[in-house]
Amino acid sequence: MFNIYIETYGCQMNFADSEVVASLLTKRGCSLVGEAEKADYILINTCAIRDNAEQRIRKRLHELRALQQRRPALRIGILGCMAERLQHRLMTEEENVSFVVGPDSYRRLPDLLDKVRQPGIKEAATELSTTETYSDIEPVRLGGNGISAYISIMRGCQNYCAYCVVPYTRGRERSRDPETIVAEARSLASQGYKEVTLLGQNVNSYRWRNSSGQNGLEDEVTFPELMRRVAEVSPQLRVRFATSHPKDLSDDLLRVMASYPNICKCIHLPVQSGSDRMLKLMNRHYDSAWYLDRIAAIRRFMPDCSITTDVIAGFCTETEEDHRQTLDIFRRVRYDYAYMFKFSMRPDTYAAKHLADDVPDDVKTRRLEEIIALQGQVALENNRTEIGRVFEILVEGESHRSREQLFGRTSQNKVVVFDRHDVKPGDYVFVKVCDCTAATLKGVLSDSCGTPLFG
Ligand code: 5AD
Ligand code: SF4
Repeated sequence: MFNIYIETYGCQMNFADSEVVASLLTKRGCSLVGEAEKADYILINTCAIRDNAEQRIRKRLHELRALQQRRPALRIGILGCMAERLQHRLMTEEENVSFVVGPDSYRRLPDLLDKVRQPGIKEAATELSTTETYSDIEPVRLGGNGISAYISIMRGCQNYCAYCVVPYTRGRERSRDPETIVAEARSLASQGYKEVTLLGQNVNSYRWRNSSGQNGLEDEVTFPELMRRVAEVSPQLRVRFATSHPKDLSDDLLRVMASYPNICKCIHLPVQSGSDRMLKLMNRHYDSAWYLDRIAAIRRFMPDCSITTDVIAGFCTETEEDHRQTLDIFRRVRYDYAYMFKFSMRPDTYAAKHLADDVPDDVKTRRLEEIIALQGQVALENNRTEIGRVFEILVEGESHRSREQLFGRTSQNKVVVFDRHDVKPGDYVFVKVCDCTAATLKGVLSDSCGTPLFG
């Protein structure tokens, strides 16, 4: 059968989808290979969120031309958000692409691979679904460490933020059967996994209705209830999730998070802008006061919870005053980490249809740099307050800098580097933090009270 090479770009959701694709294809007898040179098919799972994400894929396709000339039987397919956005057009524009498959059509891949074997045949499968969740498919864990895995719990998004292409590339929201989610978590725990991350574009709108509930009444499973069920799988299994929309981050969820030690104390809460005028124009359904109230609620329920965010610099009509308000909310919240982006106009979105991309590129760049500089300073200050504290960390692997050191993560998702001694990846250990940079903590192995274990 065929050798398949899968390359993945974009968000965690895309990485989880590639694992579903790997499962669908290996079940049909295909083998996965680790190098493009050995493949009969190269599948590129793509992102469309910003123009530069798409440009990167185009560049990669051009690089692959040489390989294709050497191996005429090689077929290249585009999966994911860029496939969904561009559909057939992508195969016209990029001659070396034989097939495009959108995020809801992966079950059709085995058939499509057969069809495009014939030279000159091009195929597209880009229908979006209102029901597909791939809930029956056990993902093949790709490139993982055997310690931490993603579980996709819902698909799609219908928030229609004015800047965002996702509702057009991933379709309507739909939630996956909670029993299959818990079963997947159990199976991972029994294979020795120590951490699962529940994934969805907006996990707080997770909602499963089961009409065969007791007394014929509707049973509803919401996200807090799902978190509770997954947290109950094993106290040794850490549970994380991404991403929450501030408009529906509920106290119920915070209460459940606070009551389970194995639910990690880390919330990613994209703010996008600190200006109420921008938030309204972005169609975010909250203002800065609401957002700050949710931050206060997080701190009330879990004083040691870390908070991270996404922000966009230079959205349509953004003024210096709007930008100043973004810097201001960063100063107030004091995020532990932020993903910071320059606005990129995406076709089909509300912004593309109704607004002007009127902030000059050099102004976007300068505003982005100001946010990055401020965030770097705050992250360093936050990390300095951790010096002297003791954390239980889950060890993930070797430090990038030195073979003598390992790294792990705190519940707050902060990376801690320490001397390895006899510790192995997958272990839970205590460390006392002794130093830091803006991105990393340094620690020494200790007992739970902070007494060093060695010297
Ligand atoms: N331009 C820049 N950033 C964007 N994001 C989404 N759409 C755009 C866009 N058109 C950012 C948002 C989102 C993150 C995943 O990507 O901050 O939360
Ligand atoms: Fe990129 Fe969004 Fe698609 Fe994820 S869902 S791959 S971030 S466009």
